[in-house]
Amino acid sequence: MTNQAYPQHLQEQLDKIVSSCPLVPVITIDRPEDALPLGKALVEGGLRILEITLRTPYGLQAISDLRAALPDVWVGVGTVATKAQFEAAEAAGAQFVITPGSTSELLEYGMTAKIPLLPGVSSLSEVMEGYRLGYRTFKFFPAEVAGGVSALKAYSGPFPDISFCPTGGITLEKAKDYLALSNVNAVGGSWLTPKDAIAAGDWAQLRSIAEKSLAAVK
Ligand code: 3PG
Repeated sequence: MTNQAYPQHLQEQLDKIVSSCPLVPVITIDRPEDALPLGKALVEGGLRILEITLRTPYGLQAISDLRAALPDVWVGVGTVATKAQFEAAEAAGAQFVITPGSTSELLEYGMTAKIPLLPGVSSLSEVMEGYRLGYRTFKFFPAEVAGGVSALKAYSGPFPDISFCPTGGITLEKAKDYLALSNVNAVGGSWLTPKDAIAAGDWAQLRSIAEKSLAAVK
């Protein structure tokens, strides 16, 4: 295990990304042709960060396509579980990486990567391992199961210099409570990307959910 601190420029880049928008849509592409209209609808609705998961075979291509079509927003990758996926996402043009949990493989690779890593944690011990390596911003997942708002409030006692992007089981109502915490900078979720609306190609609905959600948390 290395003692090297997480590179300052990556931490700064991550801070810039997560402070650019309070809501992060978790996007899963079931049909490759949905990626562009879906991404555009979310951005028209005011969102500035797009997390494309690798839960289907279309994630990497969607990242490349969205980077080319939407140069003014942050396009990143989610559900990265291995170093090989991290590398593939970097090659596809992802601007940040989100992992559901933290392994030493991912934490160590993240320190040498070109794009920032938001490592997933669900306990203080995992926070402490990332902290030891210099990570200061984490995804808190699965947020509602791992203790929710009360857990993050408690985490701010011993670790006031750490911030979180909670995800997992969060609704718009709950998002407001998380965003009221001093150690939360953005909240993620799939409530911003309902599967039935995507399947129906109802991009107007997607745009409207983004708009209303942003208005509600601002
Ligand atoms: C994620 O990967 O961040 C979660 O699957 C999103 O959680 P949600 O679907 O409960 O919003």
